Amino acid sequence: MLRSLIASLLLASPLFAGASNSLLDVSPDGKLLAVANTDNGTVSVVDLKSRKKLHEFPCGDHPEGVAWAGKSGMFLATVYGDDTVHFYDAAKGHQFGLTVDDEPYGIVTTADGKFAYVTHDYPGTVSEIDIAARKVTRTFQAGPNCRGIALAADEKSIFVTEFFTTKLHAIDLASGKITDTWPGYGSDNLARHVVLHPKRPKAYISHIRSRVEAHDARGSIFPQLSICDLWEKPKDEKRRRSIALDTYNDVYVITNPWEAALSPDGKKLYTIYAGTNDMNVSKTFDDDYREAERIGRATRIGRHPRAIRLNPEGTEVYVYNTLDRSVGIYDADMKSLAAITVTEEVRSKEWLRGKELFQSALPPMGSARWIACSSCHPDGLTDGRVWHNPEGHRKTPNLFGLGHTHPLHWSADRDESQDFEYTIRGKLMRGRGLTDGPLKLGKAFEAIALAEKMGGRSKDLDALALYTNAFPVRLSPHKLTDGAKRGQKLFASAETQCAKCHTGAYYTDSQLKKPFNLHDVGTGLGADEKMGPKYDTPTLLGVYRLPNYLHDGRAATLMDVLTTQNPGDQHGKTSHLKKEELEELVAFLKALPFEKPPEETPNTVKDFEKEFRYPRPKE
Ligand code: HEC
Ligand code: HEC
Repeated sequence: MLRSLIASLLLASPLFAGASNSLLDVSPDGKLLAVANTDNGTVSVVDLKSRKKLHEFPCGDHPEGVAWAGKSGMFLATVYGDDTVHFYDAAKGHQFGLTVDDEPYGIVTTADGKFAYVTHDYPGTVSEIDIAARKVTRTFQAGPNCRGIALAADEKSIFVTEFFTTKLHAIDLASGKITDTWPGYGSDNLARHVVLHPKRPKAYISHIRSRVEAHDARGSIFPQLSICDLWEKPKDEKRRRSIALDTYNDVYVITNPWEAALSPDGKKLYTIYAGTNDMNVSKTFDDDYREAERIGRATRIGRHPRAIRLNPEGTEVYVYNTLDRSVGIYDADMKSLAAITVTEEVRSKEWLRGKELFQSALPPMGSARWIACSSCHPDGLTDGRVWHNPEGHRKTPNLFGLGHTHPLHWSADRDESQDFEYTIRGKLMRGRGLTDGPLKLGKAFEAIALAEKMGGRSKDLDALALYTNAFPVRLSPHKLTDGAKRGQKLFASAETQCAKCHTGAYYTDSQLKKPFNLHDVGTGLGADEKMGPKYDTPTLLGVYRLPNYLHDGRAATLMDVLTTQNPGDQHGKTSHLKKEELEELVAFLKALPFEKPPEETPNTVKDFEKEFRYPRPKE
């Protein structure tokens, strides 16, 4: 099987539309560009010859991928927050919406436009869609949190990447099974994309490394490009190498590699960096050793680039500079030819500024250009890591619903999102910061940030807080089944006590009134713990997609939280529950949230923008 896969990869046909996931896709005739506008909830169609936006169509909550369906004049878009794949006619607009598994992210299509393959971040599956029949024909298991996807040129297999491990899997399309895996290093993280070489059996994955042992502006986050040899080799020979992009441009550091593209002849490689607004053009080698060497220096492009594509001739390069809301058109050497505004702005100025700061590793956020807030909080999600912070091991939480769950941090040592000025100016980012003047200093591991009112001091800092507070809570794909409803009763019972601390619509008793509600639930036992054993009660909304559990990630599963990690019944009473009851309690936790929590509670902070209403196509 594998040998035939390699043979056909080597006979690969030229690049075609929709062969790897992206926010951009060029139609097979090279005339049109489809664009997914993630923030504004629309898709756009651009005429590449006249360099004009022709249409902008409503799409929904976070479109994350587009792909043309062959030469049909149709393209498909994955809508991450709505669990939908929308079908568009480039001229007439929306045709059809197909409900799919949760969190559809990347999409690729076969060259004849008959099938589409879609990755689902959670639950980690791939859907096969019959485009003419408008239905999901098969679902494959692909590994947790898969995002990147590329279709082999012979269309017999697909390659997908896991977001939190950067593992690459080959899935054989005949059997629907994983046939091969290229693991990354333990610290490899955040792989959203994979692209295949058009002529040789190689895959390129842009990602970072999260070195959780370091808490340092220069040692925690590393930009990488991994290259996988997609053929069988003796066991002792490497099939995956990683280029350290931090030293790729000598001392000029780039941050958050997001996506890569190859020229149709495979001779040039283009890599874009979303944290420093720049990119590299490299020449590729066929030696399976050096792989790539940059041509010239890193090139500055627009703000927060997230997608890159080439035209079928390889003479033009398209970069989606997402925070400019425009696609830059460049020649093959990155000389700028034009910029086309692709979406009409609908978000507030403050939110946009907040997003720009959150995504940026440039001054004033960092001085060393290595780390952005988003390197650890990708679009408000966890990075799936437990960091060895000075105060102890700390899991990165999801930031969803943050505006309602202050105070912040597991130890509640911050009471405003503006307090993250301490992170910006601290050892982790070493930025100049967004305010003037010194910050209060205190003893190590004291909650110093609580003593200073940071809100209202700087427009930029307030904008960062507004953005950080506004990540929306999305419904769980796990249904509130009858079993989960029995679990709900157990959760609310006086005996288990769960609802005593995990209370209200956000399932936490976190509140800004002092003294804060902190609890010792028997978990603060880590050898390097400096601020325990009492912790702020975490929200349980979205907990289904957030392993490992507890502040230091010591519990691998929700069942472990209730059993092995709760030996003395200090964290609610669970020892009296039968196995079946424990399973029902877990089923309830996984179903959270099964309804939208309120947009305002007595604990909702002021610097908070109500949830954005995404435009949606009319069915
Ligand atoms: C190196 C990774 C890393 C970077 C960079 C980082 N964070 Fe965090 N963040 C974490 C971890 C780990 C936690 C949990 C720490 C804790 O609770 O004590 C956290 C917690 C938070 C929380 C509290 C969430 C809650 O529910 O209590 C907020 C808000 C936050 N970060 C915002 C930011 C902002 C804004 C930036 C940029 C200025 C930033 N972070 C940079 C890793 C990071
Ligand atoms: C006395 C208050 C209290 C009670 C009672 C309580 N919890 Fe918690 N819960 C907490 C605190 C505090 C944490 C954080 C502890 C830590 O991270 O070390 C937590 C953490 C959790 C987590 C992990 C969340 C994450 O993101 O990692 C889950 C799940 C959870 N609790 C479920 C429950 C269930 C189910 C019950 C009832 C059996 C329960 N809790 C009872 C206060 C409580």
